[in-house]
Amino acid sequence: MRSIYLLGKDTQDEWRLVEQLGGSPNKFFRATQRIAWGLTQPDLMRVDVLDTARKLVASHGSQFPAHLYAAWVWRARDPDRAQRSLDDARVLATPDHPLIDLLPTEAEWRAESLPQRLVEIHPDRMWRVAHMFPMTGAPLLHNTVATVVKLGDDLAIINPIAFEPAIADQVRQLGNVRWLITQGKGHSLFVESARRQFPGSIAIGTAGHLTHPPTRHLQLDGLLGTAKLPDELAVIPIEGHLLDEVLLVDRVSRTLIVQDVFALSGAAQSFVARLYALAWGSVEQLGYMGFSLIMWQSMPKLHASLAALRSEELAHVVGAHGTVTCRAGDIERVHAMIEYTRGITTFGHRAMLGRLFLAQPSFLRDLIVYLRSTKNQRDA
Ligand SMILES: [Fe+2]
Repeated sequence: MRSIYLLGKDTQDEWRLVEQLGGSPNKFFRATQRIAWGLTQPDLMRVDVLDTARKLVASHGSQFPAHLYAAWVWRARDPDRAQRSLDDARVLATPDHPLIDLLPTEAEWRAESLPQRLVEIHPDRMWRVAHMFPMTGAPLLHNTVATVVKLGDDLAIINPIAFEPAIADQVRQLGNVRWLITQGKGHSLFVESARRQFPGSIAIGTAGHLTHPPTRHLQLDGLLGTAKLPDELAVIPIEGHLLDEVLLVDRVSRTLIVQDVFALSGAAQSFVARLYALAWGSVEQLGYMGFSLIMWQSMPKLHASLAALRSEELAHVVGAHGTVTCRAGDIERVHAMIEYTRGITTFGHRAMLGRLFLAQPSFLRDLIVYLRSTKNQRDA
């Protein structure tokens, strides 16, 4: 049976994690999902995160990951208590533990930001800049990565960030910043500041931005799909998915540029992003977060969008989070996830979604409350 915690895998794969998670994987994922959403989406999900963390440590505390989630929960409330949870985790974590990379570095725990760097990933064609900013729920940093693509004499910045002045200068030296592109409902936080940093640039968003309450204020000059962009940048809308994301493919470097449809998990993310990704079962290099099951709205539409993606010739993938450079193996993972999704029928998806909500009834309740409360805004 398909796992609802590890998308792309079967339920029997969950049980291989018993030892490293310190107990029942189902129970571990249910608790950590609640902590992850309870901390980062407190306006949407009502979770007693302290109680959830206490119970998680009681049931899974023989291994270190449970203590890290407790440390995350305590980090904003009582730094000394959080430090004790981190110390407990460090005592238990042996160097050969498969999840050893979950542990925070000292800099990550102190929430120290690294200086920005403009990294060329395809010569004279594509550059990337990581930006660190506090994630909701604790004073710990999350990272998001801007991608700069050279199209003729002009530049497109995909997923704009708050550029440090020196980095903005370096970008200007590469060419004229013409387009600021955000690919989905999220990731609009820095569009306005980037517009000020690059006067004359055009902000391009998606239809999702126009209806999503937190992003409706955005001043956009056009939408992906209808705005005129050079042909070398292919535009692939992912339909049937609540993220309303539009994937981009730079056909010259054969690079897929994704925001959140695929999660590029791995050690290079921030500490909280690693905890978040494990909670949602995205433990490999590239995959789906478990909450994708909630986001998928129409399997036939999703399949058609992924078929369009499959027909593109792809060699690399970069995302809005995680590593700055391209990783080996990620494109193969994209194709594996496409095939996995194409194997899930509408009925199969509903069955998986039913199992998820049976495991997390409070999520269903809170989502219904949220959808009702925002219905008028979304209809407007
Ligand atoms: Fe994101």
